[in-house]
Amino acid sequence: MRKLLVTGGAGFIGSNFVEYWLNKYSEDRIIILDALTYAGNPHNLPALFKESPRVEFWYGNVRNDELVNTLVGKCDLVVHFAAESHVARSIFDNKEFFMTDVIGTQTVSNAVLKHMNHVERFIHISTSEVYGTALTEPMTEEHPLNPMSPYASAKAGADRLVYSYWATYQIPAVIVRPFNQYGPRQHLEKVIPRFITSAIKNEPLTVHGEGSARRDWLHVHDTCERLDALIHAPLENVCGQVFNIGSGFDLDVLTIARKVLAATGRSDDLITFVGDRLGQVQHHISSTDKVGGVVDIGPGRAFDEGLEQTIRWYDQNREWWKPIEWMKDIKVMTRNGRVERH
Ligand SMILES: NC(=O)c1ccc[n+]([C@@H]2O[C@H](COP(=O)([O-])OP(=O)(O)OC[C@H]3O[C@@H](n4cnc5c(N)ncnc54)[C@H](O)[C@@H]3O)[C@@H](O)[C@H]2O)c1
Repeated sequence: MRKLLVTGGAGFIGSNFVEYWLNKYSEDRIIILDALTYAGNPHNLPALFKESPRVEFWYGNVRNDELVNTLVGKCDLVVHFAAESHVARSIFDNKEFFMTDVIGTQTVSNAVLKHMNHVERFIHISTSEVYGTALTEPMTEEHPLNPMSPYASAKAGADRLVYSYWATYQIPAVIVRPFNQYGPRQHLEKVIPRFITSAIKNEPLTVHGEGSARRDWLHVHDTCERLDALIHAPLENVCGQVFNIGSGFDLDVLTIARKVLAATGRSDDLITFVGDRLGQVQHHISSTDKVGGVVDIGPGRAFDEGLEQTIRWYDQNREWWKPIEWMKDIKVMTRNGRVERH
């Protein structure tokens, strides 16, 4: 029986990871630490497990030294998802991004350092956003770090902070850089759920610029499998290392909008174009070679299949997203005081 600390376990990827892990490892126990910001939702936790003795939920902040120390002190594995995670919001007000993403990561890293005698592995969830737009394709872990938004720079700071703790103190850290994720329980501020819920309601799908931004998309369940594999890989193969997690498959935003409309039986006429977004990267595509070299993992589901499953989930779980529908409209104030809607 192992005990995991999952920070940000009430968010999108964190809650999918908790569900995946509890289903797969029936002996293990999980402590979730989450501050339940606007992005965290207690309803994200699988109902079946809410009353389960296998899950302990702690409402609290990853910046709370004492709390984080106490919880890490009880665990064998730490998986750190908690972060402010939305690029557009970081343009308007970025203080929380640096406080949570950098200082929160420092707090977790310090606790791991303190409890190194029993923490077997510390998985730090970074992001492909740290790379900025692709200078070489596909993007390997050696790609320069050119973060293009305050969110990306906060995550780059956290990513290198964890690396430095490995280099200085040899904490058992593995740094993971997921590319774009999609799947159930993703907040409507992110593009795929935004498109899906608009299509379901027969409302316009807003595409930024010409919709030509291309990203690498991986279904969140496939991400969980890769995290699982990295947690179980021999420590000497992964410790202090960075791993991309992506599909190696890129698709532009306009094509995704069209696929969502086709899958929901709506017309392309619902697509409306608005101005480009600040801080967005134009192109991302992951190299999957490095992770494939250390873990034996399949290619993940095809995008069309994953999209169909995701559309079905949003269609069948309207009560989950109705209360946050108004948050699809994100107001961003630019430096000259202009208010843009993202
Ligand atoms: N979603 C993506 O496409 C994607 C891609 C690459 C990397 N990531 C990274 O994966 C991680 C999870 O992303 P997500 O999409 O699930 O994010 P999310 O916004 O859905 O969830 C973040 C969770 O962290 C919690 N949280 C925020 N601040 C906290 C704090 N100070 N203390 C404790 N809990 C706090 C929130 O309440 C929420 O439950 C993040 O680190 C993000 O940077 C996400």
